[in-house]
Amino acid sequence: MCGIFGCILKNGNAAPVIHAALKRLEYRGYDSVGEATISNGKLFIKKDQGKIDDVHKARNLDDLPGSIGIGHTRWATHGAPLEINAHPHVDCHGQIAVIHNGIIENYADLKQELENRGHVFKSKTDTEVIAHLIERALEAFPPPSLADAVLETVKKLDGSYSIAVISTKEPDKIICARHESPLVIGVNENAIYFASDIPAFLPLTNKAVIVDDGEIVTLSLKGFEIRKIADSSMVSREPKLIDWAPEMAVKQGYPYFMLKEIHEQPACLRNTLRLQEHYLDLMATFLDRAREVYLVACGTSYHACLASSYMFSKLAFLATYPVIASEFVEQHGKSVNIDSTILAVSQSGETADTLASVNVARQRAATVLGLTNTIGSTLTRVSRVYIGQQSGPEIGVAATKTFTSQLSVMSQLALRLAKKRGKVSQDEMDYLAEKLNKLPETVETILRTQEEKAKQIAKKYKDAKVFFFLGRGISTATAYEGRLKLMEIAYVPAIAFPAGESKHGPISLVEPGFPVVFICPKDDTHKTLIGNIMEMKARGASIIAVVEEGDEEIKNLAEDFFEVPKGVPEVLSPVPFITPLQLLAYYMAIEKGFNPDTPRNLAKSVTVK
Ligand code: M6R
Repeated sequence: MCGIFGCILKNGNAAPVIHAALKRLEYRGYDSVGEATISNGKLFIKKDQGKIDDVHKARNLDDLPGSIGIGHTRWATHGAPLEINAHPHVDCHGQIAVIHNGIIENYADLKQELENRGHVFKSKTDTEVIAHLIERALEAFPPPSLADAVLETVKKLDGSYSIAVISTKEPDKIICARHESPLVIGVNENAIYFASDIPAFLPLTNKAVIVDDGEIVTLSLKGFEIRKIADSSMVSREPKLIDWAPEMAVKQGYPYFMLKEIHEQPACLRNTLRLQEHYLDLMATFLDRAREVYLVACGTSYHACLASSYMFSKLAFLATYPVIASEFVEQHGKSVNIDSTILAVSQSGETADTLASVNVARQRAATVLGLTNTIGSTLTRVSRVYIGQQSGPEIGVAATKTFTSQLSVMSQLALRLAKKRGKVSQDEMDYLAEKLNKLPETVETILRTQEEKAKQIAKKYKDAKVFFFLGRGISTATAYEGRLKLMEIAYVPAIAFPAGESKHGPISLVEPGFPVVFICPKDDTHKTLIGNIMEMKARGASIIAVVEEGDEEIKNLAEDFFEVPKGVPEVLSPVPFITPLQLLAYYMAIEKGFNPDTPRNLAKSVTVK
């Protein structure tokens, strides 16, 4: 996730306006920044790695000349956060500048083709191919307009994008296009703007036009012209008046980042389905070769590891050891060796306990693999291979979208490994791949249908002194994560156990009215889980069940229930089953009057041991 912004002004210089707008978009990404403007038929660019304020201090982003320009604040996906990879990217002649938010899936093939034709690339990004493709399109005779060259280019792109292009060939225009990444236009009598999000231009205008997927827009001081990418047909759309307060705007109308991030999950899951196959394959190869595999992480990332250990075992028949990072050195520090592989999972890539485990593993010559949301983090630097999960910045302290994305990546790894090891039939592979591709839609349905229920259940149980979370099999991880969410933001003491273990002690806590959340996918554990529900009911517990749609048997046993769509395979079930529990935790915090984004005593990234 990156932030893009640009403007054409009737009067004055664009650069300071772009700079100020990028500051308002900084929450979308902040590892590098860049601007490009055009003045007197020349393209001017400033860009560098680092936060906007630091880059501005060193390079003065405001002194670029010209009244037209584009700017980008980056959250690295392809290529480390270095100056060379910062946007804008240009063509071979430095006449076309492009900024991009999204992921171009087929960039490697396109790049190869362009290189074969003599194009010279400077960066490691997927974005740079766009500038070169436009350059090529403009070489046709008779030369097309810049808008038509961009149109021809975007038709070649697979993946997600919102892009903006300026060129010295048509120095009074900005061409934007969108597919699955956000793009909005802002208008007033003195200027025209585009941005990833409305907050970027809200202090400048409250008149906004939302660009839809599959549309291309030409901006000039005359206004905007929208066309459909598929058939070039014109689209007419009137600006809407936006009445958001500035602090609402930065959260896109959501009251808290956590809720915004819960709702971003379908988009983030889609991003995980666009990962470069090469890295997944490479990682699967390392996992396959290892004598033993440790999955090492803290907090929510550890729960992703726990769930993954079931995926690896069930799909690829690979035993893995999920280990809480702060225990890794004590528990395995002496036994880890050259034949061991450590897959460290960390949203931030900076968690001290996780990095300490990685250090010990490296000292003992083990192979270190990483899964993180932060390209350029320490974890990416110390891993032999790493995967960037591409969830965009997560600002709420409670991990939500990064958890479900981690699960999606790990399930893809497990599937690849299963294929490599010949452990699943092609039919089963196809079936699981289809279900994986459907996860974003499944989560969309849950968000649409279960949020009201989460509010009601939170109201009903807001004074509960303690909660139980129980699940069997892979749902044990979902239970642990549901419990962590509730504890960390709503400050409700909560206990999670594998449901089968609850009768070995924890059940003594239960008395009438005690809320027990059961995670109940329709998998092999379903029947036994019903027995565990009965045990709790017999002691007067109030059952809150997360069930598959139409699971009347458990619905009849529960006081309250959430329903998730049918037919999600067991190994993927933590993604849909955690979603209502994230909402429950969020609304419990709201009911109790707490700010869910900044829970007391916690930090987003824990860099001390
Ligand atoms: O950045 P990491 O994934 O390494 O962070 C690990 C934990 O600190 C983190 O998951 C923490 O537990 C969150 N507050 C959970 O919501």
